[in-house]
Amino acid sequence: MSKNHIYLSRRNLEVAIFLIATSMILCHVAADSPCAAQSDIQPAWSKQEISVLRSLWIGSLPPLPKDPSNAFADNPKAKALGKKFFFDARFSGNLKVSCATCHRPDMNFTDDLPLAHGIGSTVRRSMPLLGVAYNTWFFWDGRKDSLWSQALGPLENNVEHGFTRTACAYLISKYYLSEYEEIFGTMPDIANTVASPATEDTIVLKAWVTTRPEKKEEINRIYANMGKAIAAYVRTIVPGPARFDMYVDALLHNDMANLVRTLTPEELNGLQLFIGKAKCTNCHNGPLFTNSDFHNTGVPTPAGMPFDKGRADGIKKVLSDEFNCLGRYSDAGAQDCDELRFIDSDTKKYVGAFKTPTLRNVAERAPYMYGGQFATLKEVLEFYQHSKSHELGHGGLTDEDLTAIEAFLRTLSGPVKAD
Ligand code: HEC
Ligand code: HEC
Repeated sequence: MSKNHIYLSRRNLEVAIFLIATSMILCHVAADSPCAAQSDIQPAWSKQEISVLRSLWIGSLPPLPKDPSNAFADNPKAKALGKKFFFDARFSGNLKVSCATCHRPDMNFTDDLPLAHGIGSTVRRSMPLLGVAYNTWFFWDGRKDSLWSQALGPLENNVEHGFTRTACAYLISKYYLSEYEEIFGTMPDIANTVASPATEDTIVLKAWVTTRPEKKEEINRIYANMGKAIAAYVRTIVPGPARFDMYVDALLHNDMANLVRTLTPEELNGLQLFIGKAKCTNCHNGPLFTNSDFHNTGVPTPAGMPFDKGRADGIKKVLSDEFNCLGRYSDAGAQDCDELRFIDSDTKKYVGAFKTPTLRNVAERAPYMYGGQFATLKEVLEFYQHSKSHELGHGGLTDEDLTAIEAFLRTLSGPVKAD
């Protein structure tokens, strides 16, 4: 426990809990009273700590960033169409899988499985879609550099939607023609066939290879537009204020009454550890609790799976992706694609590294890590306590520390907002 803390021993902590309980009752009876007794147990945050708390606060989240690679990112009609695509299971090989199968609105836009399941089983855990518009790279390995390009991956993945871009274009011409044309212009004739370059099915691949180049271009354009519409919707999914944010809000506004009743002493202790001794903010920082970078935490490979190289493979994939920021289907000018142009391509450095996930609503979406290796937050924290990864260094966390950090993580749950 840090020196900054006014309660120093376990005994004092117990007294403090007693005080908070008593004065909560008093506050409840006389809601306007200043509840002075509770203020005694507030940590004496230093200026520097307050600035860290402010940086983690949801009030520091800027407005949605522009996506120059998607000219339709903020187009309300594209957003409405994208939402329909997101929930439409007709875009799948068995007519049963939509984006929402694995990204369920009632589950923080993820699911509760260690490895996601569509037509078949995937090799990684589904990801929550909270505040993804603020990301630079997408997927655990960052193999995509925009939300629209990301959306095109699962559609043609044989264990997710198990579909093809040609079949997507055909279904759009069949079911969504007028909505599509109103946004993206005239749709060319699309035959009812399946053809795709992203498949191991030799018949489907051959059908693509033998398609005329102009036709391929038309299909790719419709497919990219489908992704742009989906992205216009997905980017609106953002986390709302959690109890932690209410605490920081009260702290920044000197609102003593709310300050003292928002977080318990144990949660405050966890928060102090999180931004202090435990060094969690080395990676889980900013209002989304992620630095959007890739790290090797030394998490074990899930049983029965081959070693996953993570970001090391992701770098190669994003550079060769026909739908990346510099590709012909992107609306960006070359100067808009700095992240891709100046990508850190040191693949050796990133072997086994995965994207730092947001910790917003983390308590609501077990299991954890890229392969769903851990069933509970407790297991994640016990793993951190013992991890030998050179990227982690947690200053010898005790079991009590872990309990406090877990209590703090539970204060990061808030409502999810989506258009
Ligand atoms: C079968 C389950 C499944 C389906 C269906 C699915 N996803 Fe995913 N999604 C995943 C998995 C698994 C990951 C992580 C994959 C990886 O890293 O390789 C992921 C990752 C993502 C991400 C990256 C989030 C981030 O923080 O980087 C986004 C965005 C996303 N999916 C959106 C979509 C959209 C849009 C659709 C529909 C077009 C879709 N997903 C369909 C399982 C699915
Ligand atoms: C070196 C960077 C780094 C540090 C420091 C770090 N984390 Fe993480 N954290 C990650 C990465 C990367 C992952 C995903 C790892 C994976 O799937 O292999 C992760 C995953 C998690 C998860 C699981 C979230 C999910 O959605 O699966 C939790 C919870 C978590 N970290 C909490 C913490 C806490 C608490 C601390 C401090 C004790 C901490 N982390 C320190 C980088 C870091």
